[in-house]
Amino acid sequence: MADHETGRRADVTPRGFATRAIRAAHRLPVVDQPPTSVPIYQTVTFTSADAEELGAVANREIPGYAYGRLDNPTVVAFAAAVAELEGAEAGFGFASGMGAIHAALGTLLSAGDRVVATAVSYGTTRATLTGVFGRLGVTTTFVDVTDLGAVEAALAAAPTRVLYAETIANPTIVVADHVALADLAHRHGASYVVDNTFASPYLCRPVELGADLVVESATKFLSGHSDVMAGIVAGSTSLVGRVRDFQVDTGASLDPHAAFLAMRGLSTLALRMERHSATAVDLATWLEAQPGINRVWHPALPSHPQHAVASRVLRRGGGMLAFELDGGRDAGRAFIDTLTIPERTASLGSVFTIVAHPPSTTHRQLDDTALAAAGITAGLLRCSVGLEDLEDLIADFDNALAVARAAGEGAAGGRATSPSAEPSNGRTPATDETSIAQPDPTPV
Ligand SMILES: Cc1ncc(COP(=O)(O)O)c(C=O)c1O
Repeated sequence: MADHETGRRADVTPRGFATRAIRAAHRLPVVDQPPTSVPIYQTVTFTSADAEELGAVANREIPGYAYGRLDNPTVVAFAAAVAELEGAEAGFGFASGMGAIHAALGTLLSAGDRVVATAVSYGTTRATLTGVFGRLGVTTTFVDVTDLGAVEAALAAAPTRVLYAETIANPTIVVADHVALADLAHRHGASYVVDNTFASPYLCRPVELGADLVVESATKFLSGHSDVMAGIVAGSTSLVGRVRDFQVDTGASLDPHAAFLAMRGLSTLALRMERHSATAVDLATWLEAQPGINRVWHPALPSHPQHAVASRVLRRGGGMLAFELDGGRDAGRAFIDTLTIPERTASLGSVFTIVAHPPSTTHRQLDDTALAAAGITAGLLRCSVGLEDLEDLIADFDNALAVARAAGEGAAGGRATSPSAEPSNGRTPATDETSIAQPDPTPV
């Protein structure tokens, strides 16, 4: 006898209270009208009709769900949505951006393989390449990916499995030319993997430009509110299938509730990225005209070194900008300490503006020489521009700049305050001799 209200066969056998309670509490509702939001499938296990079906689903002989680490409908819906926006055939969700990056690299790399990677990348990605994969016998050569001759030379120097780049990268908002890099990678038999975190698929779709896999921290712009951690890998069905298999074996599964939150962010991605980009370019233009600022980097500024590339590969300039105060470390510290609207925190891609001064926070253990080796100057600030009113941000920055200028003048002549040039984590990068030296910063 079917029970319309419960959606399961009504239990006519007399049973004890505990048994009835468990069965009653696990009955699914029948929903004749589809929900407008993807439900959160807060379940790890999925029931099959018989052992044959369970075995076939678990072994991927037929489509279906068996266990949460393998697949979950909410996570699958999120990954499919991002893949569609990225212009990719398939996608797979992860517990974090690093989970996605680790799985993408782990799928492609074996002991003895070589990677050519961008010299300016998220620090933990660099640490993963040199530390995690370095220990397993993978060598990484770091190059300036804006110098296509250098990339070509690095690829020609030895067989390479992966060329790795970021669409827009710290510290100076470097923009990679995916069309040229994908072409170089493929001509040398390498796969091209791109971290699209700073851009999001609204600004750039690396797969459409030739990348084999796109990886992304959905913790940032994709979800957009700094309240969920998630990652994504997208690419061809066959490659993403291999990434899924790697994930099943390593376990960085995305939680369905996190997938739901990240998916909610997708609906407003276009609106948010337009607003982030518009405010960021206006703020960057204003900053360029202010005394006490040496340099401003934003892809939409004509002064940006890769402005021409950015005009080709990005729909808009995005929400990330960087600028350099000429008062050095003291000016940078005074600037972020004086701001009242931006948050002093890690991360990026949120509704609120986030300003970071690496020399006094994540890279504080480095002196000016070591900072320079990491491509960072003492007065460098990074800004993830949020969705606040431009006028309020300008007023706040104006006030902080005045304080920073005074602090920089006061400290002039007496800098070099850092105790050590050694990165505090003591890791030894497994790079070859052509690599550009860059210490691993704090992983935020
Ligand atoms: C460019 C980039 N890629 C990957 C990551 C890692 O993402 P998650 O923190 O979600 O693991 C970050 C984190 O800041 C990032 O900035």
